[in-house]
Amino acid sequence: METIHDIDSIRRRTRTWREAGERVAFVPTMGNLHAGHLRLVEEARRRAERVLASVFVNPLQFGPDEDFDTYPRTLAEDSAKLESLGTDALFAPNEATMYPTGREAATRIEVPGLSDILCGASRPGFFVGVATVVAKLFNIVAPHVAVFGEKDFQQLLVIRRMVADLNLDLEIVGVPTVREADGLAMSSRNAYLGEVERAEAPALYRTLEAVRDHLLAGERDFAALESQAALRLEAAGLRPDYVSIRRSEDLAAPDQRDKALIVLGAAWLGGARLIDNLRV
Ligand code: PAJ
Repeated sequence: METIHDIDSIRRRTRTWREAGERVAFVPTMGNLHAGHLRLVEEARRRAERVLASVFVNPLQFGPDEDFDTYPRTLAEDSAKLESLGTDALFAPNEATMYPTGREAATRIEVPGLSDILCGASRPGFFVGVATVVAKLFNIVAPHVAVFGEKDFQQLLVIRRMVADLNLDLEIVGVPTVREADGLAMSSRNAYLGEVERAEAPALYRTLEAVRDHLLAGERDFAALESQAALRLEAAGLRPDYVSIRRSEDLAAPDQRDKALIVLGAAWLGGARLIDNLRV
């Protein structure tokens, strides 16, 4: 597997593939790859002759007080994992390659509405950073299909909306969340958890499960279910950011007749901000 750092070379490589009639599947990541990321690569493998992954810790999606500097960077290990799954190439640009005019001056892509709720409300600018880097990566790689995890469900919807609104010519595929044996959604940020915190962390998943079960049993007082869930998280030692029942189609607040619901949650635990969601 070739690791490519510059834009001209990655363009040449994927153009050769396209001209040979091969489909290109793309898996964007920030690296520190775990089994969740690798499921995306396997899905990509099934959908195209060529698989390209990227590793780029995107400064534009980190707030000033967030963990950009300490985010785990493990390119050698990531590259070995990708290679073992038959990935054809890895794009690993540096910041100057992606943002030659600097972080502040870069042109941005905004998906209004969807970017301002839930995780977007507590992380201002986060989804603008995500949409911008993903649009740039799509323009560089020009894939036929790109694969994302449902673990970051709001991100997946923001990207689908961006692709539709900007008439980008590719298919977006979502992959179900890969979990640890105790239910905790796999995440690079789980590495921030100490031993005690790691034992407490599955409370987020279990709390979302409880909300889902109440909904399946026919309960429809959404506000009450959300505040009970937040209390349950606090009792388990987490600091809830939100637990929210939404329509899975567009993350709007549901009314009593909506059937396709999703429960989303975010909570702080020590130095980690955990997120998770469950469809109902
Ligand atoms: P990152 O957090 O590295 O995640 C890369 C991809 O892996 C995303 O699509 C994410 O949803 C997926 N993923 C992470 N954990 C998962 C799990 N437990 N199960 C299934 N999929 C999982 O998300 C980003 O990077 C960035 O925002 C990015 C899209 C690369 C833009 O910078």
